[in-house]
Amino acid sequence: MQDKATRVLELSASGRTTGSASRELTRDLVAALEERHGSMQTIRRDLSTGVPFVDETWIEANFTPEASRTDRHRQALAFSDSLVAELKEADLLVIGMPIYNFSIPAALKAWIDMITRARLTFRYTESGPRGLLEGKRAYVVVASGGVPVGSAADFATPYMKHALAFIGITDIEVIAADQLNSRAEMSMDAARARIADIAHLKSQAA
Ligand SMILES: Cc1cc2nc3c(=O)[nH]c(=O)nc-3n(C[C@H](O)[C@H](O)[C@H](O)COP(=O)(O)O)c2cc1C
Repeated sequence: MQDKATRVLELSASGRTTGSASRELTRDLVAALEERHGSMQTIRRDLSTGVPFVDETWIEANFTPEASRTDRHRQALAFSDSLVAELKEADLLVIGMPIYNFSIPAALKAWIDMITRARLTFRYTESGPRGLLEGKRAYVVVASGGVPVGSAADFATPYMKHALAFIGITDIEVIAADQLNSRAEMSMDAARARIADIAHLKSQAA
C-alpha cells in the first residue's frame, strides 16, 4: 500500500507578486519539501488577494452554537469553515510572511482571525485554552527590509509563533530573510542554504 501523500498548505501574504523574497523562498521551500517527502499534495493560498475581516454577522454566527445557527450564520462562516478545513488537512504549513510596519501583513492577520475558532482549532479547558491542531509542523519564512528578525522591533515573528501555538502548532521553524535593504545577498543566501538543508534532511522529519 502506498503511503499517504504529505499535505502542505502554502500561505502567501506579500502584496507583491513579482520581486517578493518571501514568495520566492516559500516556493523554494515547497520544492525542497517535495524533494524530501517524495509524494506531496500542495494547496497554495494567496492571502494577498483578500481575506474578509470578522464582522458583526460573523461574530454572532461564531458564538451561536452550531445546532442553533441560521442559514445567514452558516453563510457568514462558510469561508472561514473552508479555511479551517484546509488547515486541518495539512501536515505541513509554509507561511510566507513579510514584516509590514513591524508586524504581520493585515491579510495574514485576517486569516488568523478566520481560523482561530473555539471548538474547531482550540477549546477552553479548566486549565485554560488548548490548541486542537496537533502533529503539524510550520515553517515561517520571514522577509524584512530593515528590522532584524528576533529584535525588539520584530513584533511579527513572536506574534505568529504565539498565534500558531495557541491552536496547537508548536513545531515551528522560522527561516529569516531579514534586513534585505542592507544585506540582501547574505540574508537570501542564508535562507536558501537552510532550505537546501531541509531538502536533504534524511534522519529527521522535515
Ligand atoms: C507596507 C510595507 C511596510 C513595511 N514595513 C516594514 C517594517 O516595518 N519593517 C521592515 O523591516 N520592513 C518593512 N517593509 C519591507 C518589507 O518587509 C520587505 O520589503 C520584504 O522583503 C517584503 O516581503 P516580500 O519581499 O516578500 O514582498 C515594509 C514593506 C511594505 C510594502
